[in-house]
Parts: sequence; structure tokens; C-alpha cells
Amino acid sequence: TDAHTAGPFIAAIDQGTTSSRCIVFDKDGRIVAVDQREHEQIFPKPGWVEHDAKEIWANVESVVAGAIAKAGITSADVKAIGITNQRETTLLWDKNTGEPVHNAIVWQDTRTDALCKELGRNVGQDRFRRETGLPLASYFAGPKVRWLLDNVEGLRERAEAGDILFGTMDSWVIWNLTGGTDGGRHVTDVTNASRTLLMNLHDMAWDDRIVQSMNIPAAVLPEIRSSAEVYGHAKGGVLDGVPVASALGDQQAALFGQTCFEKGEAKSTYGTGTFMLMNTGDEPVNSYNGLLTTVGYQIGEQKPVYALEGSIAVTGSLVQWMRDQMGLIQSAAEIETLASSVEDNGGAYFVPAFSGLFAPYWRSDARGVIAGLTRYVTKAHIARAVLEATAWQTREITDAMTKDSGVELAALKVDGGMTSNNLLMQTISDFADAPVVRPMVAETTCLGAAYAAGLAVGFWPDTDALRANWRRAAEWTPRMPADQRDREYKNWLKAVERTMGWIE
Ligand code: G3P
Repeated sequence: TDAHTAGPFIAAIDQGTTSSRCIVFDKDGRIVAVDQREHEQIFPKPGWVEHDAKEIWANVESVVAGAIAKAGITSADVKAIGITNQRETTLLWDKNTGEPVHNAIVWQDTRTDALCKELGRNVGQDRFRRETGLPLASYFAGPKVRWLLDNVEGLRERAEAGDILFGTMDSWVIWNLTGGTDGGRHVTDVTNASRTLLMNLHDMAWDDRIVQSMNIPAAVLPEIRSSAEVYGHAKGGVLDGVPVASALGDQQAALFGQTCFEKGEAKSTYGTGTFMLMNTGDEPVNSYNGLLTTVGYQIGEQKPVYALEGSIAVTGSLVQWMRDQMGLIQSAAEIETLASSVEDNGGAYFVPAFSGLFAPYWRSDARGVIAGLTRYVTKAHIARAVLEATAWQTREITDAMTKDSGVELAALKVDGGMTSNNLLMQTISDFADAPVVRPMVAETTCLGAAYAAGLAVGFWPDTDALRANWRRAAEWTPRMPADQRDREYKNWLKAVERTMGWIE
């Protein structure tokens, strides 16, 4: 980082699944300063994942202060703040005290399994798909809201009385940033709202009938706004008075940061999970192959841009699990060294269906398996199978994308923490049989939020100016013989089958 770059600047806050960070960018889209802080992952029961929202907000305040201090600047040098966030993670809080009523329920959490089945029977899968673009799955926010209303004592009455606010993490951060109990703005953006199972994809408004059928009081819902406009100004803190000017779910922000502004352009972000999004222009495209129809972004008054998405629940978090729960590696980076110490997977396949299976299967009843074990298999083979799991899951998504969009993948634009793993990038290229390219700024999530905020306040004139900032840093091309790839893919699919129906 270089503290002497000339301003002004944009600050982006990324409230992610495992950490919160703040990055300060200059006009060329270069990183001036970064600060980051991890928060606790709370696993109360098998399949349950929670976050402490107060810890998260404290971390957000601290990384904002940290990044501004490292950049050696003041609020006067910052033209706007952009927000991006882990999507679907659900919080309800008391608007009079600012106290969360329960831990946030994280997107990976499967506790709403049974509820989703029941909603499917009573309301119908098709209705949700048609109006919201999403399959009925425990991944999304709406059923989590309903679970909290049903399970936190006295909450429904308080919600009906208008004392309770619902938000995904964008809403929680914006509300606190703009004053909290002292006039905080209760808003969300179209991309985050499109992950609730409650927003109608065609008119970008809460779908009254669906909200009612899910038995959620309308009073808890935030106002839906575009992804790039001034929602309010920061109140207190080191950025006091700076406009809060964008919000996008982290995956949509990465699409924006990768400058995928044209129909057919796609990116894949390798974080806790992996999410591939393809811009489909100003019409929502239905998926027949297990992808989601979602909102890509909306800039102020302009028409919304839609996307097809392939969501993979577990990729980077599998590496973390190997480190923290299994103790097989000391650091995440070590997975590459260990996996590189063997030629292949030794016959082992690891399907990390920890949160059920997301795209293209959407099976909440699946749980993880390691298949093909013999006495021959070492921890190095398992490490290799861990990396291959990410690559095979990518292949399943690229197949679905090609079928749904009719566009053959020319190259896969990648970003996110796992892209520093060369063996993984080569394996993805081999399995997906396509070139993989990584841009100079791999922090595309924060960059996308900064771009949207900068557009909202006129810091950048238009998307062409942003496109000029995209530069290729690295590329991997397929090297694996086709017959080997096909054989291995068959084995992977056999292992996938073994995960299904584990939960009755
Ligand atoms: O939908 C969940 C996604 O937004 C989480 O992203 O980067 O925190 O794994 P990440």
C-alpha cells in the first residue's frame, strides 16, 4: 500500500462471512489501504451457523478506522462509502435499542430445511421460482426470518407492533453507519433483496402475497433501493458526514468489480463459497439447469441488470475446516503444498455437502462424504481431493451456465482469496476445459462496491471509465487429456450421488 497516492478516495466496506474489511481505493481503482478483522463462527448444532451481529458491527467500525488511519487520510478525502456483504445472512433487531434479538442466522445454516419443505407443499415451489427467481431452499433469508419469528419468545408480537427491523448485513451496516437508533436508515438494495425469496424479480418490490404466505409482518421489511445512490450520510465515527452511496451483495459486487457490464460476461469468486454470475442484460433469464435468477445490479434510476448464478456453498470453508476442525494443515496456504506433494487424488473424492448441496442440485438433505477410500490414501491425497472438489463444483456450474445461456464459455474470469492457489487454478482450467484469467486487482468485491458508490456521487463518470481499470494479471489454460477428465468427472458424480438423502 502507498499512503502517498493523491486523493480523493472511495472507501468500501466488505462485511463477509468470515471477516469484515475496509479498503480505500483511488481513482485508478488501486488499493491505497486495507484493514481486516475476522469474527467468530458459531456452530450451536450440526447444520447451524450463527454470527454475533454486535461483534460484526464493532469489527466494521474498527476496520474503517484502521483503513483510514493506514491511508493517512481524513473523512474530507473520502467522497463516498460503498457497502458489500455476505448475502442472505439474516438479522432481526429492536429499532428502539439497536439490540439484535438473536444471533444472525448465516446463509450456510440449514435449520429451515423442514420449514422449506412445508412451504413447498403449502405455497408451491413453482410460485417462488416464478416470482423470485429462486428455488425454495434453506440458503435464503425469508425462511430464516420466519424461523426467528416462530422461535424467539415474544418476537412476533414485537414485530407486529413495529418495533423490530429485519435486515441482511447490508441493512445492519447501513442502519448503524447512518446513526442507528438516532435516525439510522433502514434500507436494502435490489441485489440483497433478491436473495430473500420475498422480492418480486419483475417489479423489484416485496411480493405481498409471498410475504403473507410466509407469515412475515410487512413492518419488519427494509425499503428496497437501487445499488448505487446516496442512502444517507455516516453519523459519528471517522467517516462522519460522508455519503453512504452503494450496496451490493458481495457476489454482485464482484461481478461489477470485474466490469462484467455486457450481456454474456461472467465471473467466479472463490471465497468461503464460490459463486459464478453471468450478466444476462435487462431481462431475467429462467434457469432449467439449477441456477438462480438474480439481480446483478441497478445503478440509480437506470434499468436493473439481471444475472444467472451458480452458487457453491463450500469451497474455501472446506480448506478452513481442514485447518481448524481436522488440524491437517497449519495455514490455508499449506493446502497447496500438501496437495502438490502427490501426483493425483489416490482414488479419493471429497464432496463437501456441509450445507446440503447448492447449485445445480439444491438438495438440503445432502451431507458431506469422502468416497473411494483405501489404505493407500494419505492426507496429501485428501488435500488434493479438497482442491478438486472446488474444481469439479465449478465444472458443474459452467455446464449449467452453458446450457441455460447458450453461450460457450470463452474464458472464466476469477477472483477471491483462493485464486492465489496455482494448483487450484490449473485444476479448474483442466476440469472446466476453459482458460482461467485473474485480474490485477483480485479484491473485486470491494472494488465493485467502491465503483458503484463512486458512480453514485460522480467520482467516476460512467462504466467505460471503470472498464479501463481492468488488467489481466495471470492466465491458466487446460492441459488435461479429455479421456482422463471424463473418467474423473464420472467418479466425482458417483461420489455426489452418495451425499443425497442422508437427512430423512
Ligand atoms: O451467498 C453467500 C455469499 O454472499 C457469501 O460470500 O465471499 O462470504 O463466501 P463469501
